[in-house]
Amino acid sequence: MPRIARSVENVPYSRIRELAEIAMRMEGVLRLYFGESNLPTPDFIKRAAIDALTNGYTFYTENAGLPSLRRAIARQYGELHNVELDPATEIVITASGVQALNVGIRAVLDPGDEALVLTPAWPNGASIVAMANAVVRQIPHPLRGDCYGINFDALEAAVTPHTRLLLYTSPSNPLGWVATDEEQQRLLDFSRRHGLWLLADEVYDRLYYAGGSLGVPVPSILRKATRDDAVMVVQSFSKTYCMTGWRVGWLVARRDLAHKAAQLNEFIVSHAASFAQKAAEAALAHGEAELTGMLERLKQNRDLCLNALSAMPGVTVPKPDGAFYLFPRIEGLTDSFGFCRRLLEDSKVGLAPGVAFGAGGEGSVRICYAAECEILEPAMERLARFLCHT
Ligand SMILES: Cc1ncc(COP(=O)(O)O)c(C=O)c1O
Repeated sequence: MPRIARSVENVPYSRIRELAEIAMRMEGVLRLYFGESNLPTPDFIKRAAIDALTNGYTFYTENAGLPSLRRAIARQYGELHNVELDPATEIVITASGVQALNVGIRAVLDPGDEALVLTPAWPNGASIVAMANAVVRQIPHPLRGDCYGINFDALEAAVTPHTRLLLYTSPSNPLGWVATDEEQQRLLDFSRRHGLWLLADEVYDRLYYAGGSLGVPVPSILRKATRDDAVMVVQSFSKTYCMTGWRVGWLVARRDLAHKAAQLNEFIVSHAASFAQKAAEAALAHGEAELTGMLERLKQNRDLCLNALSAMPGVTVPKPDGAFYLFPRIEGLTDSFGFCRRLLEDSKVGLAPGVAFGAGGEGSVRICYAAECEILEPAMERLARFLCHT
């Protein structure tokens, strides 16, 4: 009988989804397992999409996306990072951050190649590597005191003649960890020394609480890299502008790779939806005030959950500077999926199990704090009660 390709069979099922599917069959669950805000997309973005539809943005666009959106992205890199990008050759619009990851990874890995992935991490990067018939080497972030770091010795030891790519996420999902200036430089130096592609997933760069004032982004790796470096940045409108369902993102890359990525778009989705690209342009032009408001609320939520978790015996929770997740470690926990399932069935609180995020994730759970405090407060109370009784 014809069988399914091994590279596809080998792609692991998302354990976040597995938990979510149990939760979705239940009523009254406090849902903190997915990575999205429950704020709707701002009205001005929705109106821009309606205007775009009315004005004829219903046809195919360039594979690399609308030139006007690429120019707007380049302008924003200039303003926020003082980085100059050529919108015609160094930016490719994609149908989401995950699609940017897909074309970026696909463009640099051949079957049998190896990719180093800093974990715990959102599982999609590693699964895309597997879909390319390549091999993932997971390098866990060590927890030193109450700060995550990078184990550069482990990275050095993991390099083989087949290694082609190093993937990291800052701010991190699920850790909220943000690479320091020195860590960014060392990742870049390491990649240059070993002739690797460095792929920085920066989709949470605007969700940053340690930047002087809210709205200041995490400095992009593009500030340190030159345009000739083998560096890619994955980006998205999903998290910054509450646009998860719209599916618009982008990839910044060295010219030759950006050119190929645009070409790959043709064979995957051709391009992001035309009117959604126009809406994304509006988000860039007018999104700052809404973003700052959302960040104030997220920071309060983070502190509310941090305070609650810090008071729970046996729970260690590093204070994250970015994204909208907390990743508490629970003393003695060896089966985070079983724990999350019992918590769900017993207390109707839905969290993501740490095991879903690869090496270094087991023993923790991920809490997405982008919900209202009317949901977060009872969720924290129920978690505390559940921990006392287990
Ligand atoms: C680290 C990371 N990268 C990329 C994405 C992709 O976001 P999207 O495909 O919605 O743009 C996500 C979404 O959860 C994420 O957590």
